[in-house]
Amino acid sequence: MRKLLTVLIALLVLLVVLAAASMGWALPPDTPAGAATYKAQCMSCHGPDGAGTSAGRSLNVLDLRSPAVQDQSDAQLEQIIKNGINNMPAFGDSLSDQEIAAVAAHVRTFGKQTRTTASH
Ligand code: HEC
Repeated sequence: MRKLLTVLIALLVLLVVLAAASMGWALPPDTPAGAATYKAQCMSCHGPDGAGTSAGRSLNVLDLRSPAVQDQSDAQLEQIIKNGINNMPAFGDSLSDQEIAAVAAHVRTFGKQTRTTASH
């Protein structure tokens, strides 16, 4: 009985990993470092959940949970964070590529939150 359970759990884990891989998660998983960078560098404009603060909205910030943002590739998001766009400042000088990848992975978590709560 024990053995069967172990096999079932192993299969379940494999399935989850395969599902994740098929969705094309090229970025590293969301990390405490990514969340901390977000909090320190991005939250003043983008808010804790990516919706945008009033300061951010006065700069025409985009809702980070929206498809307009989430449908872009990981590489595009990293480019935008690195080089900036319109009123969005560039972070290429203040953040390493690793930090940018980590913070982009954190931005991705906002999209997952909407996707799981959105009605289809
Ligand atoms: C000074 C305010 C400000 C700060 C700080 C800021 N942003 Fe932005 N961000 C903006 C604005 C304004 C836009 C909308 C730009 C546009 O018009 O496309 C934006 C857009 C974005 C987009 C979507 C860009 C697009 O065109 O799809 C991403 C992703 C993003 N920001 C991530 C970040 C991350 C990550 C950080 C922290 C490292 C950050 N932002 C810090 C103001 C800010």
